[in-house]
Amino acid sequence: MIITGGSIITDQGPTRADVHFEGSRITDIIAPGELAGSSEIIDAGGLLVLPGGIDAHTHFGMPLGNGISSLGWRESSEAALLGGTTTIIDFANPAVGEPLPQAVARWRDMADGNILCDYGLHTTVTDVSADRLAEIPALVQKGIATFKGFLAYKGRLMLDPREMKLLMEAVRKSGAMLLVHAEDGEMNAAAEETLLNTGRTGPNWHPLAHPDESEEKAVAEVLALAEETGCPLTIVHMSLAGSLKLLKNARVNRDDNSILVGEVCLHHLFADSGLYKAGHGAALAAICSPPLRTAGNCADLLAGLVNGDLDFLSTDHCEFSLAAKSAAAAGGFPRVPNGCGGVGERMVVSHTLAVATGKMTLARWIETCCRRPAELMGLKDRKGQLAPGFDADIVLFDPTAEYRWEPLGSSDRAGSLWTGLPVTGRVRDVWLRGRQVVAGGKLTLDQPGGEFLPRHL
Ligand code: URP
Ligand code: ZN
Ligand code: ZN
Repeated sequence: MIITGGSIITDQGPTRADVHFEGSRITDIIAPGELAGSSEIIDAGGLLVLPGGIDAHTHFGMPLGNGISSLGWRESSEAALLGGTTTIIDFANPAVGEPLPQAVARWRDMADGNILCDYGLHTTVTDVSADRLAEIPALVQKGIATFKGFLAYKGRLMLDPREMKLLMEAVRKSGAMLLVHAEDGEMNAAAEETLLNTGRTGPNWHPLAHPDESEEKAVAEVLALAEETGCPLTIVHMSLAGSLKLLKNARVNRDDNSILVGEVCLHHLFADSGLYKAGHGAALAAICSPPLRTAGNCADLLAGLVNGDLDFLSTDHCEFSLAAKSAAAAGGFPRVPNGCGGVGERMVVSHTLAVATGKMTLARWIETCCRRPAELMGLKDRKGQLAPGFDADIVLFDPTAEYRWEPLGSSDRAGSLWTGLPVTGRVRDVWLRGRQVVAGGKLTLDQPGGEFLPRHL
């Protein structure tokens, strides 16, 4: 097959070239028209030809203690493909006392046969007993290249600094990377208690239980631990200009920026804390951790992503229906499941608010949404680029389409932050490993065909 007439996006920017693929792999990037006549031709005139998006931070179908779960593997991956993302990396979360390999197997059972896009798994570690840490090397061998630890969520997922250090040492020794949720669980718990004791229980109070100082303290702490242990670190969902400054300072005098990495998520770039004051429903939809911050922080984070201080753009897609959030809110904001959606929105919303506004080049957009997450998360030989030998994960994108955003896919998206946003750009066609999965903005799949991706750093 040859995709002809479009502009492919490389590190140098848009280039007129044709993409040739056979079976599941890209075989050639060739001068326009060179092989015309020998193959099936797909006309991409006026369109951008992009590598399939890589969203390195999602929670599809996460079971919760109270029975509420996010929107499911099939529904979430439907939105991913329709939105131009062909690979996601989700989190296997062990239950209390559960061996890590068992949690990974459980997550694979949930995903396989249901997921429409390709996927990898990070593994969350909340128990640093010798038995659990001893399980890490074998998982790394099987392609779980990344683990996640929390300094947040006291009494549930939180590790104290001593435990975090043990985890970092184990992860470093295994040649893996640690992802850290950097908020200080003690500070958040104290702020939450004060709010509840004074009757401030509505969803609008959620951000006050996540003060800026809490994130900044945790970011400083985890950067120091990375320095001490030599453990490769990604700070996930960075939400503050102050956190970014700490990361920048820690990188001074380092020539390898793949050791200290900063991730930012769509909602922390383009939605701000004004939503907590915009009524009960808007505040509920915006409950996530870290919370939405001020517009000034959003602008500074976007500047950081543009100039390379932040490395890649994810979503932390963890969507709950508004009805589920609403029901839980009756018990006070701490009961509301945390998370926002975005896997279907990431490419179009970032194109609209970063690229079409002239703040970010097309080349940097694709670097932050495709190439860098693939490289940093252990998929560098297969995903994230339009190049010979890479998987034929290809998106045809119309950069001129203008319309109001409607959530993609078939699930209940009433809690979406993005509904009604005027957007510029539309995903027209998508191929996953050479197979067309979206045509004219509609899914063309009859069977879930997503594959598990072993990842190696
Ligand atoms: O609010 C969020 N971020 N929910 C998902 C879990 C996490 O901490 O990433
Ligand atoms: Zn987190
Ligand atoms: Zn997350």
